[in-house]
Amino acid sequence: MHSPVRKHYGSPEIVGRILAAVPWPDESGSPLTAASLFPYDQLHGRAIQATREHAARLNPSAEAHLLDIGSGVGGPARYFASTYGCRVTGIDVTPEFVAASGELGRLCGLAGRVDFLEADAAKLPFPAETFDHAYCFYVGMNLSDTAAVLSEVFRVLKPGARLVWTEVTALTGEPHFPLPWARTAEESHVGTVEQLTALFEDAGFALLAIEDETGSHVDLARKIGASGQVPTAAEDQANHVVLGADFVERRKNYIRSLSEGLIASTLVVSMKPD
Ligand SMILES: C[S@@+](CC[C@H](N)C(=O)[O-])C[C@H]1O[C@@H](n2cnc3c(N)ncnc32)[C@H](O)[C@@H]1O
Repeated sequence: MHSPVRKHYGSPEIVGRILAAVPWPDESGSPLTAASLFPYDQLHGRAIQATREHAARLNPSAEAHLLDIGSGVGGPARYFASTYGCRVTGIDVTPEFVAASGELGRLCGLAGRVDFLEADAAKLPFPAETFDHAYCFYVGMNLSDTAAVLSEVFRVLKPGARLVWTEVTALTGEPHFPLPWARTAEESHVGTVEQLTALFEDAGFALLAIEDETGSHVDLARKIGASGQVPTAAEDQANHVVLGADFVERRKNYIRSLSEGLIASTLVVSMKPD
């Protein structure tokens, strides 16, 4: 069932490729830091900049236990744990990503504060009311049954918990493929913001904020000249290291589709009522 997603994202030697790009170990002998991986391990548009902004919506305490839904190679989880001191459990269906997340967490000295499991977001292997908050960054476009995922996330959150969710939503027409999350239209599951927010309400969540972030993606892309150039690590957008050389074309199509008003980038903040 998940083989198209796994095939789309998975590849060998992910940790080796990231470490080859990071200047570590260096002459100073300093340990590997979570921050040194941020140009490569935030697998979404605007990379660490977006993670910082979205994390601030949760602003977790050091005692909080967070769920990361579709944790990729663990970049957002390591950001949360190293910035807020909280604990994060990530789940993902792509085995190569789960393995890389665990290894990178250990190398950064975050073992015990971040942990990662191979699991489907529609079938979470946790008891009810386990987590203080949850987040899901740019996974929704890969979900064929978002209603099932939201029902599961609702179940495992404690009352009063917040959920920060970012994804691409549909606007006026078919976007340009291949895209970062899908190489063909058949692999892409993108609905309108109205459809998405109705699913949140059907699952029992109270909506706190719905924001269109399209402008910030297009502005940043213009600023760094994203029209086909390979972004550099210094620009915090070096996702081709993990996602492959064709990511440059896929990202270009993403920005073009956003710029032409075919799709939007949407943030939904919601809460499980007390
Ligand atoms: C665009 S990446 C985003 C990764 C991460 N959230 C980040 O921002 O760095 C999408 C991720 O969703 C995962 N994914 C897709 N469908 C999933 C599902 N049903 N359950 C769990 N993970 C899923 C993929 O394996 C991939 O790691």
